[in-house]
Amino acid sequence: MSHRVRAALIDEIPEDHGLEVVLEGKIIGLFRVEGKIVALDGICPHAGGPLAKGACFEGIVTCPWHGWQFDARTGQHCLTPQISQTPYEVEVLEQEIFVIFQDT
Ligand code: FES
Repeated sequence: MSHRVRAALIDEIPEDHGLEVVLEGKIIGLFRVEGKIVALDGICPHAGGPLAKGACFEGIVTCPWHGWQFDARTGQHCLTPQISQTPYEVEVLEQEIFVIFQDT
C-alpha cells in the first residue's frame, strides 16, 4: 500500500531548479527536469547538505555544501555507483505535485 501527500504547486519549481519540502517528517528535494517533476531524499549522504538548495543543470543536482553531484531523475551519485539517494515517485494532478510514500 501507498499514500500520496501534497507537496507543492508545479509553478513553484522552474525548470532546472529544486524546492525543498518537508513531508511525513522527511526532507524531500523536488526538481523539475525536462519539464518533469522528480523527487529525492533531500539530505545529502556526505554530510547532510540540502540538495534541493543546490544548483540543478540538465538533471544533475550539485550539493551546495561540498559539490557532490547526483542525477535528480534516479538519485544516482555521478561518480560513485555505490552511492545513491532514495528517489520518490511523484504524481502531478492538475497543477499540484504529490509525493508517493510506501506504507510500511
Ligand atoms: S554535504 Fe553534500 S557534498 Fe558534502
